Amino acid sequence: MSLPLVLDCDPGTDDALALFLALASPELDVLAITVAGGNVGLDRTLPNALALRSLTGRDIPVYAGADRPLLGSFASATRVHGIDGLGGIALPLGRPAEQEHAADAIRRIVRTAKAPITLVGIAPVTNFALALMTEPSIAANVEQIVLMSGAWGEGNATPAAEFNAVSDPEALAVVLACGRPIVIATLEVATQALCTPQHLADMRASGVGRCLRAACDIQGSVPFSRRLGGTGAALYDPIALAWLVRPDLFTTRPAQVTMDLGPGPCRGRTVIDRWGRTDQPANATVLETIDAEGFFALLTERFNCLP
Ligand code: RIB
Ligand code: CA
Repeated sequence: MSLPLVLDCDPGTDDALALFLALASPELDVLAITVAGGNVGLDRTLPNALALRSLTGRDIPVYAGADRPLLGSFASATRVHGIDGLGGIALPLGRPAEQEHAADAIRRIVRTAKAPITLVGIAPVTNFALALMTEPSIAANVEQIVLMSGAWGEGNATPAAEFNAVSDPEALAVVLACGRPIVIATLEVATQALCTPQHLADMRASGVGRCLRAACDIQGSVPFSRRLGGTGAALYDPIALAWLVRPDLFTTRPAQVTMDLGPGPCRGRTVIDRWGRTDQPANATVLETIDAEGFFALLTERFNCLP
């Protein structure tokens, strides 16, 4: 029985690989793809999601959502993802998105689902927060929420905060407080599985499909981060999906996660208490370690299942 889920994204180079992994995995039943502004503006993340969806040949409905956070202004990450969001890799245009707003679609899908729905967030979680704030009762039909978000150490968007978290801290606080099981893939677990030039060469040599080729071209455009030692690029978003497909590749730890919503330099920080120092009950499961080679083998195998 495959897992019914809604995938919220902001493509985004790593979102692209996460979308491919999700749509290539029979363990997952992607009911909808919802899109937010994030890595680049919604005017780019939406066509990127439509193009990626079409490249896979899967007819999954795509819904446009929030182009800004609940509070404050929008800030992108073009330094990592390029002006267009996919590192300059041009893909054929996909067919248009549905007319329904993402938050409305999330509410409708969760409200009417016969079995509880998993929400997967690999972007600022504004769409999930809007759905949960405007119809709190849908939380009862949410199985779990799996997020790429946050860090227990230094951030990648600011010294204190990870990009998705700081892009809409209030939205993340709403999701963390919704009362449903939360699984978080932080920056740290991704830095244990950096995509090196060798990984990319091996992946590219593994097949000839258009999605595999696009994945390698897109990932090959990502600059290596000084923060990570300049040896490879982190695949943040695919890790959140890999947890759902192959949880055996990970170790986890329950932790209490709270948000810094202040105006200061720590705004958007996820305060992750991995050692029970606050005596507060855990409200999330944090992914701690990953079998990196098993993860790359999974990506390579699944990308070769796509056209
Ligand atoms: O910090 C990494 C996260 O921010 C990833 O989801 C990436 O796509 C960006 O959105
Ligand atoms: Ca993302």
